[in-house]
Amino acid sequence: ADLVAQGQVAGQRVFIRADLNVPLDDAGRITEDTRIRASVPCIELALQAGAAVMVTSHLGRPTEGAFKPEDSLAPVAARLSELLGREVKLVANWVDGVDVAPGQVVLLENCRVNVGEKKNTPELAQKMAALCDIYVNDAFGTAHRAEGTTYGIAEYAKVACAGPLLAAEIDAITQALANPKRPLIAIVAGSKVSTKLTILQSLSSKVDGLIVGGGIANTFLLAAGLKIGKSLAEPDLVGEATAVIEAMKARGAEVPIPVDVVCAKTFAADAPATVKAASEVADDDLILDIGPKTAAILADKLQAAGTIVWNGPVGVFEFDAFAHGTETIARAIAASDAFSIAGGGDTLAAIAKYGIEQDVGYISTGGGAFLEVLEGKTLPAFEILAKRAAG
Ligand code: 3PG
Repeated sequence: ADLVAQGQVAGQRVFIRADLNVPLDDAGRITEDTRIRASVPCIELALQAGAAVMVTSHLGRPTEGAFKPEDSLAPVAARLSELLGREVKLVANWVDGVDVAPGQVVLLENCRVNVGEKKNTPELAQKMAALCDIYVNDAFGTAHRAEGTTYGIAEYAKVACAGPLLAAEIDAITQALANPKRPLIAIVAGSKVSTKLTILQSLSSKVDGLIVGGGIANTFLLAAGLKIGKSLAEPDLVGEATAVIEAMKARGAEVPIPVDVVCAKTFAADAPATVKAASEVADDDLILDIGPKTAAILADKLQAAGTIVWNGPVGVFEFDAFAHGTETIARAIAASDAFSIAGGGDTLAAIAKYGIEQDVGYISTGGGAFLEVLEGKTLPAFEILAKRAAG
């Protein structure tokens, strides 16, 4: 946006790395197009400024050098054409040269089929850099990958900068974590502590409340000395969970442990659901949601929050009998005056299920990238752009 304001984009060849990695059904139709819609402003900005615009993205995890029809960005090109209101031509085999005129936009076929993309070889990166005058990274969802189009090209391009989506994402997360309106409450849920342990550890030094849910909460229930029956948990990580609870306590912060839970005997949508006190879980019980008392306690905390960071549904919300906890959390976030930020595939599915998109302060397009920022990591895409900006 700064380059556009400075009039440096007109007539220039602009290479935009977007994250257009959207879910497709078996017939190859796009089932969810948020990432494509989120990428439109950057493309429009470049077009309106009179640039010759090349856009690329990965789709899935194809084998390099072995393009298959299902790897094609063709459905994305069609959707992008609709959104931009103009034809977006899809270009195959583009590494050695792209034919595009100022005021035009083309989509470069799945960048992950190019040999050297994943390993980020200098050969590929230099060739891609030679295609453009300005490289723009607007792919927040892929910012945690140091690949040819997210890292290498930025090293060699004449000019390398962040696009509006990439900038907005990092601003929103920084606003939520670096200088938050307090109390700052994070909800970290999901099946395993092991996949989110570094996030829990990193957040435990920043947040005022850390709400755990799903299988993660079960491991915390074990840490609190409670029985969880047959529920999913990682008993070998109880020590780590205890350390997180202790670290929070030492700062005067808290990890609210569920006081009641919703149990079933089998993992099924039609399994009879029973609400139990957390202290009364039987040996053959599976905990599939937080109970109504816990949900109400957490909702009150969220109402009073200044900032909320949300990653992960607190129960098996795909099954209606075990969705109450996640729905209550979602509605409490929607009703709260707090600045809220949410990210991750399951979280976005819950937001869509309860129709609260308009009431969440910021919805991230990142899955793994969002989690890595919460872990406190500097993502490769930002690292290289900062290095280029520093000269
Ligand atoms: C995602 O869907 O999280 C991003 O597009 C990154 O995809 P990847 O995990 O295949 O790199």
